Amino acid sequence: MAGTVDLFTPVHKGLRSMIYDLSGRLQTNDFADISATTALVTDLENDFALARSAGCRLCTLATHAHEEDTIIFPSASKFADRLVTTLIEEHHDLTQRELAIAKTAHELIELPSPERRVEAGVRLNQMANTLFAAYISHMNKEEAELVPLMRERLTDAEQAAMQGTIISRFPPDRLFALLGWMLPSLNVTELSELMATQKKGAPHPLLKAVSDLCAAKVDTARWSEVKLRVGL
Ligand SMILES: [Fe+2]
Ligand SMILES: [Fe+2]
Repeated sequence: MAGTVDLFTPVHKGLRSMIYDLSGRLQTNDFADISATTALVTDLENDFALARSAGCRLCTLATHAHEEDTIIFPSASKFADRLVTTLIEEHHDLTQRELAIAKTAHELIELPSPERRVEAGVRLNQMANTLFAAYISHMNKEEAELVPLMRERLTDAEQAAMQGTIISRFPPDRLFALLGWMLPSLNVTELSELMATQKKGAPHPLLKAVSDLCAAKVDTARWSEVKLRVGL
């Protein structure tokens, strides 16, 4: 029987929300305003020495790709070799784009002239839009092509074990930063299933921390419905 686990779509929903938010900030930022621009660049930061920094958006995109490369793709390549090879090549391309954006962003905040920063901001927006388009197409491909193959070829227990490995490698601050994007991006059925699993298996402090995050981040009506369905 085909499995039901989907390791990709829930986290991708969170990453899409993060991208939409960042895209909105980039296109409305006043690059003449150095303090607003510095705050934006701090969030964009892709310094791999800071890869554990919870708020770093580009690091989150880069480390998501790294987790797929190291934890999911070695198994998936046994039955989807060509697809996995393409996805890994795309990860490399995305990383190059992320590094180039970080470099441009750092150069931009060093420019003393507001006019020059505004000019550089146009270019930064173009580079980010190209990355976001590529990143979203890449996630669409993983969901449309790899998720069905993994469900066909791997058991739910095997996929759940991979998920456990990914979660165990996350420092708590990074895990909660990602959950802060993911939980409000899920529909009521997905979030109810996730919380029902937590209620069954998670230690009480973790269940409470995730519930508190939902209360803070998820749409109020949706979270009320989830609590009703799951009995929280
Ligand atoms: Fe990927
Ligand atoms: Fe992905």
